[in-house]
Amino acid sequence: MLTIRNLNKSYAGVRHRAVLCDIHLDLARGEYIAIMGESGIGKSTLLNLIAGLDSPDSGSIKLDGTEFTAMDDDARTLLRRERMGFVFQAFHLLPHLTVEQNAALPLVLGGGAPAQCSQRTHELLGAVGIAALAASYPRELSGGEMQRVAIARALVHRPQLVLADEPTGNLDPDSARQVLQVMREQIKSNAGAGILVTHSPTAASTTDRIYVLTAEGLLPQ
Ligand SMILES: Nc1ncnc2c1ncn2[C@@H]1O[C@H](COP(=O)(O)OP(=O)(O)OP(=O)(O)O)[C@@H](O)[C@H]1O
Ligand SMILES: [Mg+2]
Repeated sequence: MLTIRNLNKSYAGVRHRAVLCDIHLDLARGEYIAIMGESGIGKSTLLNLIAGLDSPDSGSIKLDGTEFTAMDDDARTLLRRERMGFVFQAFHLLPHLTVEQNAALPLVLGGGAPAQCSQRTHELLGAVGIAALAASYPRELSGGEMQRVAIARALVHRPQLVLADEPTGNLDPDSARQVLQVMREQIKSNAGAGILVTHSPTAASTTDRIYVLTAEGLLPQ
């Protein structure tokens, strides 16, 4: 469902350097992979490109045959909202919305019926262990709790492609295990695909295949 060919990205500026060089990846429906690699190598940059939040210098990213890089911003935003779920490394929760409203956002923006949105949102908040915080605001939460809201939000609309950037970095081992299990179950039950970026070998081992991003490209481990 996701095909990446010859993807290149560099950042202009004082530290001008190539970040991603000639990246190739094939991800089939139902497949869940991990991407590891040293800090600063370009993992978040790659996820941002796949999500269409940033543009590559050259190369191709196709989602079900549609060239993502050629779409205009509106079309890309719609596609991202409907078909992708993204857990950002820095959460990006909306401060004026409660936990429940944050987690429900993709469903509400997608025009879901309120009762169904609410039921599905509670199901996921429960699954990641923060049902009791539904009425709280992000400023009242710990880092690990915010992280779990972000994960619920990324899964709530049953996206075809889940992109998770270090989603368990702030969690204790038991919560991490619980959240990783929920991610895997949701991805598999929606017959979607998922990419987990992580520094944790334990987290990576919950996926089907592990890749390592290096200066030479994205290599199967
Ligand atoms: N907007 C930007 N402008 C300039 N350089 C950037 C920008 N964003 C990232 N970089 C640089 O690109 C490189 C890759 O960054 P990226 O965030 O993708 O790394 P990462 O593999 O996700 O690292 P980490 O494991 O620490 O999260 C880094 O050297 C970073 O400094
Ligand atoms: Mg990163």
